[in-house]
Amino acid sequence: MRNSLSTASTPGSMRWLAIVSLLLLPTFVGAAPKKVRTDKEGYAGSEACLVCHEDLGKALLQSRHGKVETDTARGWKGQSCESCHGPGLKHGEAAEAKFILNFAKATPREADASCLSCHKNQATHAGRISGSHSKVQVACVSCHSVHHSVSDPSLPLFRDLTTNSPAAIAKLAIVTTRSTRINELCSSCHASAWAAFQRPHAHALPQGAMACTDCHNPHGTSRPFGLNTTARTTNAEPGCFKCHADKRGPFAFEHAPVRMEGCSACHENHGSANPRMLNRAEVSHLCLECHANTPAVSNKSGTIGTLPPGFHDLRLPLYRNCTSCHSKVHGSHINRDLLR
Ligand code: HEC
Ligand code: HEC
Ligand code: HEC
Ligand code: HEC
Ligand code: HEC
Ligand code: HEC
Ligand code: HEC
Ligand code: HEC
Ligand code: HEC
Ligand code: HEC
Repeated sequence: MRNSLSTASTPGSMRWLAIVSLLLLPTFVGAAPKKVRTDKEGYAGSEACLVCHEDLGKALLQSRHGKVETDTARGWKGQSCESCHGPGLKHGEAAEAKFILNFAKATPREADASCLSCHKNQATHAGRISGSHSKVQVACVSCHSVHHSVSDPSLPLFRDLTTNSPAAIAKLAIVTTRSTRINELCSSCHASAWAAFQRPHAHALPQGAMACTDCHNPHGTSRPFGLNTTARTTNAEPGCFKCHADKRGPFAFEHAPVRMEGCSACHENHGSANPRMLNRAEVSHLCLECHANTPAVSNKSGTIGTLPPGFHDLRLPLYRNCTSCHSKVHGSHINRDLLR
């Protein structure tokens, strides 16, 4: 799902000017002069940049950001280079690096401010304010390489900022949805998460069948750990239900922790040494961590106790296999004791 960026593309006074002229003079918008900013404000226009940065610049204009160069509504027609790099007239005249914003040298905050001047307030980034990589100084450009010609998924997703050849930069993809690429990107910083997927019982990320982004939104969400929900626009349910819909319910008889504590109460979400990715090797240990307070003899029904005459005689192996009887451990439609 992509959002139109047309309402949030220009900073400061120019945005107001654009809004005002849109409201008052809609017929004149198409006839606006090619350069919205004057030289006085320090902008040179993309044509000037291309004189010295031809290959790199042309490649960018073929990318999705090429829209910015041609679209009148965004307020950067003919000036897309400077929509990210800031005013470049002085740099063009002096040909000195210090007069232009270089993302490789900028602080994450400066770099993100540039990207967010257009990308703020989109569904993708709505979670940014609650928790995301931007809070831990991981900038947009550590994951996205902006200068590329074609969206070739066989090329690296993100730019190694030590690569400086324009030809190399031009080949990089701005964004990929290919699982293996995304996993490579995330694992380059999260080695321990990747290690968990190598355990015997794990989601199939190493096989390329799933990606970190099936569960996490790298741009943040309103849930802890940037976890996805089933829909981008609501905060209702864990994203796990997208694939494990049978665990969703609503059940006539819920198992309280499934909803109250979430899947992590019993599962290691990435991967586990234990079957079914459970937190404990023995199912009964898992259950008894919460159910150990069950009276040793019996309670209301006279059957639950863990010692005779209680029904659950834990000295017998039979009773240690809790899920052989309580098979509907995620919730049941028909049985209060989750037996079927
Ligand atoms: C007259 C030639 C010329 C023009 C015009 C020009 N540049 Fe440059 N640009 C250079 C040179 C030379 C360098 C390398 C400077 C260095 O490494 O010290 C450079 C470097 C850069 C860098 C990297 C800065 C760094 O810290 O390494 C960026 C970004 C950049 N230019 C963007 C632009 C943009 C945007 C425009 C148009 C507004 C533009 N340039 C116009 C010559 C030019
Ligand atoms: C959407 C934002 C954006 C736009 C538009 C953009 N750039 Fe860049 N530019 C970047 C980022 C980010 C980098 C750092 C490298 C990277 O991530 O690809 C960069 C790096 C550069 C560099 C330095 C490359 C190096 O060797 O380090 C130059 C030169 C440059 N851009 C020129 C241009 C020119 C010319 C245009 C217009 C045709 C342009 N840029 C448009 C974001 C942008
Ligand atoms: C001047 C406005 C503007 C700025 C600044 C800007 N972008 Fe964009 N960005 C756009 C537009 C327009 C699109 C295309 C959206 C579409 O196709 O609907 C886009 C698309 C993207 C996409 C999606 C590409 C795809 O293939 O789906 C990514 C990723 C992205 N931008 C990253 C960045 C990053 C990183 C920066 C900062 C270095 C940045 N943008 C700065 C306007 C901007
Ligand atoms: C930790 C890595 C990471 C960071 C940091 C990051 N992104 Fe992304 N971004 C991704 C990945 C991976 C995708 C691929 C889409 C997916 O499957 O969710 C993506 C997709 C996108 C898209 C296109 C898809 C969509 O949902 O519209 C845009 C636009 C975008 N990012 C912009 C940004 C901007 C702007 C920032 C900085 C505020 C940023 N990203 C920071 C990894 C990152
Ligand atoms: C450039 C390095 C880098 C990349 C690439 C990166 N991360 Fe992170 N990530 C961090 C740092 C630093 C933190 C904060 C410290 C921590 O929790 O490990 C973090 C935190 C997180 C967290 C915990 C967030 C929280 O709220 O506690 C999650 C989840 C996460 N990253 C997922 C991802 C995913 C998914 C990707 C790939 C799309 C990714 N990361 C790519 C550096 C990175
Ligand atoms: C099946 C869904 C799923 C997938 C796929 C997934 N995660 Fe997670 N991840 C979670 C959940 C759920 C949590 C929260 C765990 C908790 O509640 O303690 C989490 C927590 C994290 C954390 C923070 C806690 C920690 O362990 O450090 C990081 C970082 C993280 N994931 C990174 C990644 C990376 C990187 C990938 C891809 C290699 C990935 N995750 C793939 C579900 C997933
Ligand atoms: C993109 C789809 C997808 C998402 C999202 C997802 N899973 Fe899975 N999950 C799978 C697939 C596919 C399997 C393998 C099923 C099989 O083996 O038949 C699986 C298997 C499992 C298993 C059983 C493993 C075993 O050894 O039998 C558990 C437990 C599990 N997932 C929990 C979760 C949790 C918890 C979440 C949310 C944090 C989650 N999953 C999110 C697709 C997903
Ligand atoms: C109270 C502990 C508990 C909670 C909470 C829990 N599970 Fe499970 N889950 C189990 C146990 C125990 C098994 C193994 C059942 C068996 O061996 O028959 C299991 C098995 C699974 C399986 C694989 C077998 C199957 O039934 O498909 C999946 C997938 C799964 N759980 C997903 C989830 C998801 C998604 C959540 C969160 C909505 C969740 N679980 C919450 C205890 C739990
Ligand atoms: C994280 C804690 C936790 C774990 C782990 C857990 N449970 Fe529960 N379970 C609860 C809570 C809380 C209730 C609701 C108790 C109540 O309403 O009085 C409950 C209810 C039940 C009930 C219904 C009993 C009743 O009073 O209606 C059964 C049966 C049950 N659990 C079996 C299991 C089994 C079998 C396991 C292991 C697979 C397990 N539980 C693991 C917390 C847990
Ligand atoms: C041989 C089948 C069987 C096994 C194995 C079993 N249970 Fe039960 N359990 C039952 C039955 C039947 C009931 C319902 C008794 C009643 O309602 O009178 C029950 C009831 C319960 C209840 C609800 C008690 C109440 O107050 O209503 C809990 C909690 C429970 N079992 C937990 C466990 C745990 C934990 C294990 C594993 C250590 C386990 N059970 C193993 C058959 C079993």
